[in-house]
Amino acid sequence: MHTKKYYITTPLYYVNDKPHIGHAYTTLAADVLARHLRSRDIPVFMQTGTDEHGANIEKIAREKGMEPKAWCDGISADFRELWKTLNIKYDHFIRTTDAAHEAGVQAVFEKLIKSGDIYLGAYEGLYCSACEAFYDEGELKDKNCPIHARPVERVSEETYFFRLSKYEAPLLEHYAKHPDFLSPRYRAQELINFARSGLKDISVSRTKVAWGVPVRSNPRHTVYVWFDALLNYATGPGYNPDKISPDFPVLWPADVHLVGKEIFRFHGVIWPAMLMALGVELPRKIYAHGWWTINGDKMSKSRGNYIKAEDVVKDYGVDALRFFIFREVTFGQDGDFSMEAFHRRYNADLANDLGNLFSRVMNMAAKYLDNRLPEKPADSETFSELTSWTPGIHRSMEALQFSEALEKIWQGVSTLNRLVDTKKPWEMAKANPAALKPFLHEMIWCLRLIAGWIDPFMPDTASRMHLQLGAGKITPDGAEPQKVPPLFPRKQDEKPKDIRTN
Ligand code: ME8
Ligand code: MG
Repeated sequence: MHTKKYYITTPLYYVNDKPHIGHAYTTLAADVLARHLRSRDIPVFMQTGTDEHGANIEKIAREKGMEPKAWCDGISADFRELWKTLNIKYDHFIRTTDAAHEAGVQAVFEKLIKSGDIYLGAYEGLYCSACEAFYDEGELKDKNCPIHARPVERVSEETYFFRLSKYEAPLLEHYAKHPDFLSPRYRAQELINFARSGLKDISVSRTKVAWGVPVRSNPRHTVYVWFDALLNYATGPGYNPDKISPDFPVLWPADVHLVGKEIFRFHGVIWPAMLMALGVELPRKIYAHGWWTINGDKMSKSRGNYIKAEDVVKDYGVDALRFFIFREVTFGQDGDFSMEAFHRRYNADLANDLGNLFSRVMNMAAKYLDNRLPEKPADSETFSELTSWTPGIHRSMEALQFSEALEKIWQGVSTLNRLVDTKKPWEMAKANPAALKPFLHEMIWCLRLIAGWIDPFMPDTASRMHLQLGAGKITPDGAEPQKVPPLFPRKQDEKPKDIRTN
């Protein structure tokens, strides 16, 4: 029996277009959480991937004159490339076109046909092809899709239904018994109300969509993309009702599904009902975060209002982006991305606060200390005080309250900056050289603490700091003291470049 790993997922992103900063947000959150847990020796499994089936993708591929699979290969690779650029370490990248996933989806479908949870019928309804979802009259906004503000079509077709209605009471009971299942709590009520309002069976196959997983016993039908995609969370770690992999119990249940708030309902209602039908344990938590706008507007490719993460990284570095998106907005709430705000925080929090503190201390250390890592200070008030903050920071990280953790960490940075300002080590060097060494030792140990705390957010910066704070990295004995290159060179531009992409 192996210990259960902490299993974190992101949504599987549609391959209808190249990734943008919104997709990066969720995947970075998963990475930050995973890195945090790994740093505490908690075994983690992080899965992300791409959602590749459906009429939408097929149409886009055809418009580009490509076979759907070839198109998917290209965009899916773009996602993996971006995750590399952003220093995201996942354990598994799943594609809904993977053979193992498709086999799992087919086996699930047959199992549920057999159990009666999936049955054949006919559907007539209002369909938004961009969402690949049906809507009730009452859900429309000015007769349009509430998400895409585009007309919906009246569609009629033979279809398999999933008996969602059967799971209304069990779902409500589960929500009541597990108050953190739908997180954050302020987003839960909407789903609970939806489930209470009466769940209807949902259509889970299409006869008109060729680019999908065929129903094994009735291949005129392909599996509805959402039914297909949601199953990734189970097939990725090895679930297939025909043959369950020995890995599955080590990974399942998922500890947290991270999703954007617009797909909370799929994850909080439909997915757990599917698992109940399969007799598989439910995930522990589904966490829906908010949406980023760009300069106050919805991110939209057609309006040229979206930001490519690569462009920000080119100008400011990966870590600055990783820091900003979690410092600027409480994880859960909506937020606005603007290059002005980004630039301001870069200069204030990174270049000034952390960057200056580090170079001030390291330049003094290079000049006045030998090359050994000093002993942990036994009687340092500041170091003991900061050390006592670690459990609180860990709690914030576990609760996905990333901005809260960063706020606390920056309180530490400020404390240290104030200490340098008041103690004036450059004057101590002349006036009281005996006190200088212990002071620098204390500062070095405090900076090691800070480096450890920021590591999940800014792994490169943390390792550059650690390298210089560690043994042998403070200038070699007798050598000329070296200038420490700044962690975050100050950006002088009056006005930051507008980085929106057209
Ligand atoms: O919905 N702000 O895929 P998708 C914050 N394939 N997060 C954003 C964002 C923004 N402006 N834009 C996108 C799908 N996201 C389905 C999911 S899962 C079984 C299937 C993030 O490509 C956020 O996580 O539309 C959102 O839920 C996801 O990207 C939607 O990606
Ligand atoms: Mg979407």
